Amino acid sequence: MQKEKIIIGSDHAGVNLKSKIKLYLLELGYDVFDFGVNSQEPVDYPYIAKDVANKVATGEYNKGILICGTGIGMSITANKIKGIRAVVCSDTTSAKLSRQHNDTNILCFGERIIGEYLAKDICKIWLETEFMKDRHLRRVNLIE
Ligand code: RB5
Repeated sequence: MQKEKIIIGSDHAGVNLKSKIKLYLLELGYDVFDFGVNSQEPVDYPYIAKDVANKVATGEYNKGILICGTGIGMSITANKIKGIRAVVCSDTTSAKLSRQHNDTNILCFGERIIGEYLAKDICKIWLETEFMKDRHLRRVNLIE
């Protein structure tokens, strides 16, 4: 089966975790586009979040992953884009339920919050979990 197209982006505070997650997703066979940034030079995370979220909202990519220091700024910004349901999470249960119940399409991490191995596990579970639809579809439609 064709694996999903994933776009991944970060600000300067998420750049190290971004490169590790990117390699991991490539190992899993995903088609991954690295939006940047790729330096420790400070940048304003809303610019990255907005561009990545727009590329998911238009369907150019199936899902997005955004990383900053906490994941909070990225998720707040991404959720301003119509059609985006972004979740910042640091546990596998929330990641799974955010897919099953909320059909999240952007996953956010904080490099200053979470370790590499947990972040990788969360990515895998989040990417492999299907939306349950039924009553949850009605609720997701109500968000729009
Ligand atoms: C940058 O210092 C930091 O504020 C940013 O990466 C992020 O954590 C914001 O939510």
